[in-house]
Amino acid sequence: MKYMGHKGKMLPVLGEILLHEGRNASQFADPFCGSAAVSWYMAQHTQRPVVAGDLQHYATARAAAVITRQYAIRSEKIIIPWFQRARLIADQIFDCFPNHFESLQPELKNFEKIQVEVHRSRKFSEQIFPDIIKKIGGIWPTSKAYSGYYYSPAQAIIIDALRQTLPEEADYRNIALAALIEAASKCAAAPGHTAQPFQPTESAARYIFEAWKKDIYYYVEKAVKEISAIHASAVGKAITGDYRETIAELSEGDLVFADPPYSGVHYSRFYHVLETISNGLEIDVSGRGRYPDVQYRPVSSFSRKSESLCAAKDFLAICASKKLKVVLTFPASKSSNGLSADDFIFIGKKLFSSVALEEVKTNFSTLGGNKIHRNPREFCQEAIITFRP
Ligand SMILES: C[S@@+](CC[C@H](N)C(=O)[O-])C[C@H]1O[C@@H](n2cnc3c(N)ncnc32)[C@H](O)[C@@H]1O
Repeated sequence: MKYMGHKGKMLPVLGEILLHEGRNASQFADPFCGSAAVSWYMAQHTQRPVVAGDLQHYATARAAAVITRQYAIRSEKIIIPWFQRARLIADQIFDCFPNHFESLQPELKNFEKIQVEVHRSRKFSEQIFPDIIKKIGGIWPTSKAYSGYYYSPAQAIIIDALRQTLPEEADYRNIALAALIEAASKCAAAPGHTAQPFQPTESAARYIFEAWKKDIYYYVEKAVKEISAIHASAVGKAITGDYRETIAELSEGDLVFADPPYSGVHYSRFYHVLETISNGLEIDVSGRGRYPDVQYRPVSSFSRKSESLCAAKDFLAICASKKLKVVLTFPASKSSNGLSADDFIFIGKKLFSSVALEEVKTNFSTLGGNKIHRNPREFCQEAIITFRP
């Protein structure tokens, strides 16, 4: 999945540390699970239940698809009936526009023509599409919020049709939703994060069409195949909410992997598209990023510079009071939320009996660098800190 700061690349080192530190734990928690890369890894590599949490629903939906299931599932059992149901709905609309593949997903290279096509797509979404769905009914969050921006109208219709027709059986549904989120992240006409769609300017227009040409069904099928083949050893749990709710599930001696935000901007600003698809609810959006209003997006005290130090103290104090072991990753140098790994070490030394540090070199997203003032990705030292009670 396209996700900034995901710890998949660090797993060769981080995974070994977590497996070693968690050898005597009865449960493992990933309370800031994000892409769920670490939750999935731990669910597959330990015999212990994984409890994954995050403020955002799409993150826990991703986690649930693997950590709550103890057996592999044949992907075609999910894909064939699901795609049939979705196609019935999507094709109802496409049949009204027999040349929609040329008009909605054209193979254009010329920037001015792309601009015209983008504006035509937006006009279709704003002026024609509402009348169509009045007749056929249903819920169309992606088409209403993002069609003509992050997705072509045809892609948005397919995403909504797939969201409306998710399988009912819990394990199948979890896999299908996680796969849809992954496909949506890979097909969005936006940088890795989805804070803003590409604009139809001379330099960026071609990226819009590169993304709009992607076949949603293909990406969903690929993700279903990958996710349905992996599973947990023990049945875990996914909790959408503050990390405290995840930590509340643990007992003395359990292991927490903590990867709190390092950014001074809330994650909900970057992943609102995935959150909308995951929630499946229609929302009002505005601005260049087509965000829902801030009151509808989860905010984190870790991403407020004025509160981040308190948030770090609270988190470590809660874990120490429950006698939990914590393995925490954080950039070694000061991040945009004002914190660095040293702040966690300083706080932790007063609360835990031992604090051990390891550093690995990694690269991270600067959240939309423009290559002129800021590179989109930069190298940094990432600290892996183990706090033992
Ligand atoms: C650095 S990302 C985690 C990345 C993840 N480890 C991975 O490998 O993909 C931080 C995550 O913490 C979540 N978050 C922020 N504040 C939170 C809080 N108070 N409780 C739970 N989750 C929170 C964000 O939504 C975001 O998904």
